[in-house]
Amino acid sequence: MRILVVGAGALGILFAGVMSRHGGDVTILTRRREAAEAISSNGVIINEGKSSWRAWPNCTTDPRTASSTDLCLICVKSYDTETVARMVSPYLNERCIIATVQNGLNNVERLAEAFGPERVVAGYTLQASTLTGLNSVYHAYDGETVLGRHPSTTTPVEKIGRVADELTRMGLKTSAVENVYPEVLTKLIINSVINPLTALLGVRNGELLEVQELSWVIDRLVEEGVEACYLLGAKLSPGQVKSRVYEAIKATYENKSSMLQDIERGRRTEIEFINGALARILRAAGRPAPTNTLLTQLVLAAERKGRRS
Ligand SMILES: NC(=O)c1ccc[n+]([C@@H]2O[C@H](COP(=O)([O-])OP(=O)(O)OC[C@H]3O[C@@H](n4cnc5c(N)ncnc54)[C@H](OP(=O)(O)O)[C@@H]3O)[C@@H](O)[C@H]2O)c1
Repeated sequence: MRILVVGAGALGILFAGVMSRHGGDVTILTRRREAAEAISSNGVIINEGKSSWRAWPNCTTDPRTASSTDLCLICVKSYDTETVARMVSPYLNERCIIATVQNGLNNVERLAEAFGPERVVAGYTLQASTLTGLNSVYHAYDGETVLGRHPSTTTPVEKIGRVADELTRMGLKTSAVENVYPEVLTKLIINSVINPLTALLGVRNGELLEVQELSWVIDRLVEEGVEACYLLGAKLSPGQVKSRVYEAIKATYENKSSMLQDIERGRRTEIEFINGALARILRAAGRPAPTNTLLTQLVLAAERKGRRS
């Protein structure tokens, strides 16, 4: 199976590195010539704890490479999904499966629109990776990746299972479930808590547990998130989601969230696709969304301030 990883960022380099280390035929598509040069001449370097290893995926800036691909993994931020879909769609062959485990709402929907619902595979990943250089990442957590059916896709379950088996064979622990939507939405709510709060307070995930006043904010975010997900067709239990939020914070105690890293680097965050998206769903149904709206505006303000300084 020929695999194209779109995006030479934290997740793209990790996925490409692991799969290529396990014998996968992997190419990374990047838009940055200097990243392509670094990866082609020095490989990708995956740092894990005190050790590190290197792998040698192919890397290119030429989207025409997509033509020989069997599986295309979209590893860009949510705000770049449409652009990369437009970039590779003229070249992908009809058999190619397009998979996404991106955070944020509407990536699956936009990919299904661009490529057709019968060949898009949705899911989420518990991997945690941070970009440390043009061709290197720090792999903080080796979590499972889960794929499955989603309301916006019609990809047959057997095909999803084959993709999961193939990714597992190439070193990425991946399972396939009948319906991945409730878990994708639960992860969205978890992100809607951890990402903006850590970004705004400038703290690692675990420190959220040490600030007593935040438990009120977390309760409001869970309530709004569960209601928005209900409007999207998924009935989640607020109590269970709240427990999952606290489990996730404890499991990633030492991690710096991606949103905090983006703010620190003066980069755009995915806030509009996480809290912003939840707020829009509630408001469109005439429901209040004060907490998600406020956090979205505050993170956008922090982004703007970061760009100026
Ligand atoms: N990192 C993780 O551990 C992790 C875990 C779970 C889920 N996710 C999700 O996975 C997605 C990717 O996250 P990430 O952490 O890998 O982000 P990232 O480090 O910002 O990487 C995204 C990469 O996409 C590249 N890109 C953007 N537009 C492109 C284009 N037109 N052509 C080629 N490359 C393009 C960017 O290039 P430039 O550098 O040129 O901008 C960047 O290198 C996000 O939705 C994130 O929430 C990440």
